[in-house]
Amino acid sequence: MMNEYIGVLDSGVGGLSILSELYKAMPDKNYIYVGDTKNIPYGTKTPLEVYSYTKEILNYFLKNNVKNVVIACNTTSAVAYDELKNEFKDRLKIFPLIQSIASCAIEGLKDKDKIALLATRATVNSKKYEQEIHEINSKIEVISIDCTGFVEIVENRLYEEDKSIDLIKSKLDKVEKSGAKRVILGCTHYPYLVDIFRKILDVEYFNPAISLAQKVKNEINFNGNGEIKFYSTINPDEFKKSAKTFFDIKGNVELIEL
Ligand code: DGL
Repeated sequence: MMNEYIGVLDSGVGGLSILSELYKAMPDKNYIYVGDTKNIPYGTKTPLEVYSYTKEILNYFLKNNVKNVVIACNTTSAVAYDELKNEFKDRLKIFPLIQSIASCAIEGLKDKDKIALLATRATVNSKKYEQEIHEINSKIEVISIDCTGFVEIVENRLYEEDKSIDLIKSKLDKVEKSGAKRVILGCTHYPYLVDIFRKILDVEYFNPAISLAQKVKNEINFNGNGEIKFYSTINPDEFKKSAKTFFDIKGNVELIEL
C-alpha cells in the first residue's frame, strides 16, 4: 500500500515555518511540501491567479495519496480557500491558515485592544483577518499593514541589505505609531524575519504556526513513518539554499511541473 501524506503548500520557503511545527507535533506522519517558486510572490497576484496556481497543486496532491492538505500560506487562505474548499470537497480535507488560528491570535485581548497585522498586499486587501477576528470580537481594532517586499527578502536571502532594513523599519514604525502591543506574523515567510523585527520593535509577535499545527494534530489520524518529500516549481537548488537556515532538508528538492 502506498504511504499516505499530508500535503503542505506555499508560494516558496515560507510554508516551512508551518511544516516545522507540523513535524514537531506529528513526527510520525508523512509530508509532501510544494513551494510554488515559479509563481512567487502570491501576495501581488489576483485571487483568480492564486486560485489557479493552488488548484494545480491540490490536483497533484490528489494523485499522490494526500488526503489532508495544510495551506501554509496566508494569501491562499485569504483569497482562494473558499473556492478550493468547494472544488475539492469530498476529496480532500483542507486546513486553511487564517480561519484556523484567528481565535488564538486574539487570545487574552479585550475590547478596544489593538492588534497589528503584517501581511502581503493580497491578504491585507482581502480583509480576511479582520473578518475572522471580528466574528469573535468586533471591538478589537485590527491595524493591517501591507508588507510587500518582505517575501523577496526571505526568498533571496537579502537580510543584511540596508534597503531591506529600511523597508522593515518603515513598516514597524506604523505598528509603533498605532500603539498595538501584539503583531500577527500574517505571512508564513515573516517568522524568518522576527529576530530582525525584535531588534527594531519590542512588542509581542504572534506566529500562527504552532496553533495551526495543534489544530491539525487534533483532527488527523493515520500512521506514517516521518517521511518528507520536497518539491518546487522552478529552481529547486535555489529553494534548498533559501530553506537552509529554516529547515534541515535531508534529501534533494525535486522539480515538479504543474
Ligand atoms: N507565504 C505566503 C503567505 O503566507 C505567500 C507570500 C507570497 O508569495 O507573497 O502569504
